[in-house]
Amino acid sequence: MGKIIIANWKMNPKSIKEARGILKETLKEIKQTKGIEVVICLPFPFLSIVNGLKSKKITFGAQNIFPEPKGAFTGEVSLPMIQSLGAKYVILGHSERRKLGETNKIINKKVLATLKAKLTPILCIGESKRDEDGFYLAFLKHQLIECLTHVPRTQIKNIIIAYEPLWAIGGKARHIATEDEFTEIQIFIKKVISDLYDIKIASSIRVAYGGSVHPLNADNFILGGADGLLIGRDSLKPKKFGKIIRSIE
Ligand code: PGA
Repeated sequence: MGKIIIANWKMNPKSIKEARGILKETLKEIKQTKGIEVVICLPFPFLSIVNGLKSKKITFGAQNIFPEPKGAFTGEVSLPMIQSLGAKYVILGHSERRKLGETNKIINKKVLATLKAKLTPILCIGESKRDEDGFYLAFLKHQLIECLTHVPRTQIKNIIIAYEPLWAIGGKARHIATEDEFTEIQIFIKKVISDLYDIKIASSIRVAYGGSVHPLNADNFILGGADGLLIGRDSLKPKKFGKIIRSIE
């Protein structure tokens, strides 16, 4: 399977006009690229501008959903709604949502609902800091086990796991993650999946990296074994985003 590059626009940009502009520039940047799946996860209102867009280069996704298909849930957005706008992916369990109170249990419900709706969950996990005793590994294992509860073995391969260490997101970090730090966790994630399911499933599950990915470090993570990248800030800058994609092509 080819590499997957996921753009997480977060709560940006400010207007539909700007969103159209970024999208248009992004399409221009990636016109010549081959063999890489580009997924743009936009804020809900902007999903409507991509509805009907006939690009074979980009697929779209959301950054959250509500697990119920319809009903009295004021302010929420359902899977059938985003599906009707052409979304194929959903980022779930992003640390910025966890900070707003989303627990592993809630994320698990969303993962199960997303799989049921036949969309692809991009499940984010990540520790806030690393300690010498390796407690962060137990923390990540716990996140995985809880978020994947009741996911059947026939479905697990449809999930993309994104490892996003909180200390590396947003470029505020004193140090940016290295490819070795990613590789360690990728092996660890596969070990946990192997214990939960089996080794064949573990070897086929895709693990992406996210956290301050930019044009100069993107290929390191791919060389370190990442099946994909989740990109925040630089996904809103089409030139940089294009550079990232070309660097791993
Ligand atoms: P960043 O964000 O690339 O701006 O660090 C990544 C993310 O939060 O998904």
